[in-house]
Amino acid sequence: MKKIGILTSGGDCSGMNACIRSAVRTALRLNVEVVGFKKGYLGLMKGDYLRLDSKAVSGIMHRGGTFLQSARSPEFRTTEGQQNAVKMLSELGIEGLIVLGGDGSLSGALALKKLGFPVVGIPASIDNDIPFTDMSLGVDTALNNIIYAVDCIKDTASSHARAFVIEVMGRNSGYLASVAAIASGAEFALVPEREFDLSEICQQLRQRFEEGRDNAIIILAEGVAKGQDIADSIKDAIGFETRVTVLGHYQRGGAPTVFDRLLASRLGKKSVELLVSGNHGMMAGLSCNTILATPLEDVLKGEKRPQDEMLRLAEVLGI
Ligand code: ADP
Ligand code: F6P
Repeated sequence: MKKIGILTSGGDCSGMNACIRSAVRTALRLNVEVVGFKKGYLGLMKGDYLRLDSKAVSGIMHRGGTFLQSARSPEFRTTEGQQNAVKMLSELGIEGLIVLGGDGSLSGALALKKLGFPVVGIPASIDNDIPFTDMSLGVDTALNNIIYAVDCIKDTASSHARAFVIEVMGRNSGYLASVAAIASGAEFALVPEREFDLSEICQQLRQRFEEGRDNAIIILAEGVAKGQDIADSIKDAIGFETRVTVLGHYQRGGAPTVFDRLLASRLGKKSVELLVSGNHGMMAGLSCNTILATPLEDVLKGEKRPQDEMLRLAEVLGI
């Protein structure tokens, strides 16, 4: 393989730049040329790319987001869009493609594989909902961002004797919410994977407040409900002052943590090695601190249950 492409797709996350850097440097050592497509599958279909030499990826390790930019492209979901992408790749003399993104982007990679094009996927999404990897890229940084924000909010919550509902991202996954609740010492975590009774939670809050523990943090996964609706229900039920913070896209940016920089570097290197050795149609993932390859079909058929242990831990800790 003499020339490969790389792109970042779907929701961005911290660590994408570090991963591109690692893939480019690994490829260059193997005398493989790399091009980076701009804005994910959109740039791939249009042939909008940059040549990535060693200099192009220097100084980006510590930067969040993705310098190649990302996008969501409805056109690429169509067979015609995917065929155009393969045509573009062949016109540019590109023999393999690395895709960084969430489950949607990896489904796109699988579609290219089914058209006979060599691809390797890298799990990159703060939601941590991708099977066959213990952690996706960007999750650790997002969690650290959330914990920083929750610590700040706890200070003001205790000064004013208020309950705070803090809404975090994750789409349909409650991973960020449950881990953030455990690591911040929050009182409650409301996640899609676990049923809860809001009136029971209100009762526990009332009891806490009566015992003199007059503030509380409730971490809410966005897949459960809107933060304001939960806060209104609590206020109506027990009358205590309640505020809402929606952390939003703040969670997705910022300098990647050491964990994400290292994971990015390991996944980037492995993805190139898989492509060049002809072991494609795979996703590189982290399993028990080892970087392993899993067929994209298995990844996309699989169900991620990283929640079980976290939910049990939360229960034991009374969250
Ligand atoms: P993420 O990768 O973060 O899950 P999306 O679900 O928005 O984000 O997917 C990113 C892009 O991947 C989409 O805009 C689309 O171009 C492509 N994609 C998503 N799902 C599919 C699919 N089933 N088949 C082909 N391409 C897909
Ligand atoms: O999939 C990553 C994610 O950040 C989700 O947690 C969130 O629901 C969604 O993307 C937000 O998407 P957008 O950036 O398009 O608003």
